[in-house]
Amino acid sequence: VFKDHCAIVVFGASGDLAKKKTFPALFGLYLHDELPKNIKIFGYARTSIPLDDFKSRIASFIKYKKSPISEQVFSEKKEKFLTLIDYLSGPYDKNTGFKELESKLLEFDSSLLKNSPSGTYNTNDSNKFFSQRLYYLALPPSAFVDVARNLKENNYPEKGTGFAKIIVEKPFGHDLPSARELQSKLAPLWSEDELYRIDHYLGKEMVKNLLVLRFGNEFFGASWSRKHISSIQISFKEPFGTEGRGGYFDKIGIIRDVIQNHLLQVLTLLTIDRPISFDPEAIRDEKVKLLKSISPIDLNDILIAQYDKSLDGTKPSYLDDKTVDPNSKCVTYAAIPINIENERWDGVPIILRAGKALNDGKVEIRIQFKQVARGVFKNIDRNELVIKIQPKEVIYLKINAKLPGLATSTTLTDLDLSYDSRYESFWIPEAYESLIRDCLHDDHSNFVRDDELEVSWKLFTPLLNYLEGPDGPAPVKYPYGARSPPGLDKFLNEHNYKFTNNE
Ligand code: BG6
Repeated sequence: VFKDHCAIVVFGASGDLAKKKTFPALFGLYLHDELPKNIKIFGYARTSIPLDDFKSRIASFIKYKKSPISEQVFSEKKEKFLTLIDYLSGPYDKNTGFKELESKLLEFDSSLLKNSPSGTYNTNDSNKFFSQRLYYLALPPSAFVDVARNLKENNYPEKGTGFAKIIVEKPFGHDLPSARELQSKLAPLWSEDELYRIDHYLGKEMVKNLLVLRFGNEFFGASWSRKHISSIQISFKEPFGTEGRGGYFDKIGIIRDVIQNHLLQVLTLLTIDRPISFDPEAIRDEKVKLLKSISPIDLNDILIAQYDKSLDGTKPSYLDDKTVDPNSKCVTYAAIPINIENERWDGVPIILRAGKALNDGKVEIRIQFKQVARGVFKNIDRNELVIKIQPKEVIYLKINAKLPGLATSTTLTDLDLSYDSRYESFWIPEAYESLIRDCLHDDHSNFVRDDELEVSWKLFTPLLNYLEGPDGPAPVKYPYGARSPPGLDKFLNEHNYKFTNNE
């Protein structure tokens, strides 16, 4: 556990992810006093940038948001935070920059020693001086292994003098063989204990809430199975296309981009059996067990699509992007039914669906329950639990109730928990804030273990090979800004989902 002090190095510091997510998250933790007392943050990238320019770039992405913390405190802390930042440029594949980094890290360590009254730095539980380092790799996969190796060779505290942790960002491979290859190169360098594979969906507030909701409420726990649930959907919609990222996205597609990782992770937390404890390994053991119970994806039972121009012609089609292959069959929308062949779930369709360039930006889970025995009720609607992960955290349960008044007609209405109104004065951490904090506390629960990764690639690789192989089907087209591709409602209907008429 990082105590009192920590040096944080962000690789890929000049890139998008670092400036939009990593640095703002580090600041968010600093703002809420969640970083160790003494810290130094280094940005490292290939491009040479004057320190002041780098800082102003970081500063421009740190914006005040409504929170329990006043704007004045925010501004003061932002100023202080920027003074903790240093930047250095260097190659990823040679050790020169890493040597320079090491001398800066040692300088930081000795500044702590100098300021320590006893001359030895007190870490609370020992009088030993400890180098405590967190390396964050916000890097493209091509640089991953070089940086991991250089860090191990040049910037890894000698035994007994400290420790280092390393956070890596997806993609963790492109398919099963490449994921295995990556893992075989990383494993000899960094142990599973030191390595934190980030899937930022696991840091989202509502995703972190899933185990509590399920196992902390008897009525959910009791009904959470094939006996009562008719279908589940986990859906992701984005209102923009691949703007500016077409070249990258063309090799990836929506399945690798969000389904194989983010949505599958949500699925595991939604469907695992009760772990024996909330210990990270207990949770991850259950996740692996669950993933291994999923039957192979039926290649004839998927809906895949690619966006076309918007109906009014103002928004481009995917293929209008000059950086993509003009004949590309890249999938920008997919709906994939998953069947978990275990006692709890067999036969319940769980649809993972995700798409870009749609009419809305949201991520939500819909759990639809079976119809009650009809008896007196001829046309009663099904219960549905909706868990909205973003943009706003909301949980609501559609229930049947008697319409007030003398008549005996029923209506479908909501029991509603909106975080906005219920938890107005709370800090709801951003996913990256939450996960970096977990890492600082040695908590692996919300990070992906190597065997989880292996099973998830095993599940999706045959589908990817089929879609990208010579016999791969052409995706159907949907206009930019559509609610969904044509045929989705029918597809959902065929998978046990019934559209309800909310009041
Ligand atoms: C990333 C994908 O992992 O997740 C992006 O690469 C996607 O394509 C993003 O936009 C979505 O994250 P969020 O937190 O905005 O839902």
